[in-house]
Amino acid sequence: MWGMRIVVTRRVPEAALVELRALGEVVVSDADRPLTQEELQEAVAGASAIVSMLHDRIDGAVADAAGPQLRVVANVAVGYDNIDVPALVERGVVVTNTPDVLTDATADLTFGLLLALTRRIAEGDRLLRARKPWSFHLGFMLGSGLQGKTLGIIGPGQIGKAVARRAEAFGMRVVYSGRSQPKEDLLRVADVVSLHCPLTPETRHLIDAKALSAMKHTAFLINTTRGPVVDESALADALLANEIAGAGLDVFEREPEVEPRLLELDNVVLTPHLGSATVETRTEMALLAARNVAAVLNGEEPVNPVRR
Ligand code: DGY
Repeated sequence: MWGMRIVVTRRVPEAALVELRALGEVVVSDADRPLTQEELQEAVAGASAIVSMLHDRIDGAVADAAGPQLRVVANVAVGYDNIDVPALVERGVVVTNTPDVLTDATADLTFGLLLALTRRIAEGDRLLRARKPWSFHLGFMLGSGLQGKTLGIIGPGQIGKAVARRAEAFGMRVVYSGRSQPKEDLLRVADVVSLHCPLTPETRHLIDAKALSAMKHTAFLINTTRGPVVDESALADALLANEIAGAGLDVFEREPEVEPRLLELDNVVLTPHLGSATVETRTEMALLAARNVAAVLNGEEPVNPVRR
């Protein structure tokens, strides 16, 4: 196995590097930004394994630039919409992801956004930092309570279910959209709509102008999955027209850019793709990716193969 080159496209926790170094030569990009497509193709030349991040577009051209010895692409994310899986499978390359280890962290952040939005926490913080005058009175900065409200979960996978457990603890009723309960029914009844479906051609712009207009005027939208699931421009239109009450967004259509109109709105809470961003979770994710690489390079079945 010696002589194997493992390319890591962004810095990862040291614990994962230790595992990777036991497998071969590890080359880590030290750029403080995602590599351009050209840089990526140059960096992966000769790699047997690529440890990729969600902003790397790994397609047939990248695999070809790596060369025929490429055996595994281990994405450090549960989502793998950045990878052209059929193109890699066609070239005999195994693709893996990192499910489960980020479920709770992402559900926590989802609930954090939900509370920050419905209880106006981010807005209150801005008010104080702006040193604006304020005084307590019974009508001051009222938000919306969660008890007895309905949470609509689109994408009832592991993360959706973890968010549902938290919602139940807050006294919310949970409804899901699935084949038997179409999205339209959920949009009509939900006080909060939370998105947890993966990004696929079918879910791109799932929340478009039509979907937003089906939501209650008092409803909130939370997106912690992938930006393009929401038509961001239609969302800004809907918020400006008071078609919905607010939005909590951790992901964006053209990351790292954010639709400028959203930045101006007080009823929007924004975080920069922090769903899995805890020390514990990011370490687990990187370790899992390293274990997936090890399994494939050792000729074993990886823990988290992506089959599509
Ligand atoms: C994922 O794993 O897909 C997340 O978006 C990373 O936080």
